[in-house]
Amino acid sequence: MRYVYASRNGNVALLVDRLHLSRPIYIDTGNEICKEDFILLTYTDDVGELPYEAENFLSINMSYIRGVIVSKKKNTATQAGDKIAAIYGVDCLYQVEEEGNEEDVIQIKKILEKRKK
Ligand SMILES: Cc1cc2nc3c(=O)[nH]c(=O)nc-3n(C[C@H](O)[C@H](O)[C@H](O)COP(=O)(O)O)c2cc1C
Repeated sequence: MRYVYASRNGNVALLVDRLHLSRPIYIDTGNEICKEDFILLTYTDDVGELPYEAENFLSINMSYIRGVIVSKKKNTATQAGDKIAAIYGVDCLYQVEEEGNEEDVIQIKKILEKRKK
C-alpha cells in the first residue's frame, strides 16, 4: 500500500511524519502518477471541498484509491471525505482535526495496519 498526501499549510505533512509511513508521495500539482493501491490523506478546502491538486491526482489515479483520511478544521463543514467516498466507492477511514493529536495517530496507525498489503 502507498500513502499519498496533500498538504498546503503543513498539518497533513506533520501527521504523515508522525505516522512514520513508508515512502509517502506528496501531491504537489496533482499530476503525479501512482500505479499501486494507495490511501489518500488530504486537507479540506473551501467549505468542505477536496483541494484542487487532490482532485486532479484522483482524476488520473482513481482506480488505485483504497481509502481516504481527511484533515479538517474544528466545527467546519467537511464533506470532502464523504464526497471522495461516494465518488470513488471507498471508505472515509478517519477524520482528524488539523494535524491531530497522539490519540489520532494511534487510531490511524491501527486503521492503516489493518489495510496494509
Ligand atoms: C482557505 C482554507 C479553507 C478551509 N476550508 C475548510 C473547510 O471548508 N472545512 C474544514 O473542515 N476545514 C477547512 N480548512 C481547514 C484545513 O482543512 C485544515 O486546517 C487542515 O488541517 C489543513 O491541512 P494542511 O495544513 O496540511 O494544509 C480550511 C483551511 C484553509 C486555509
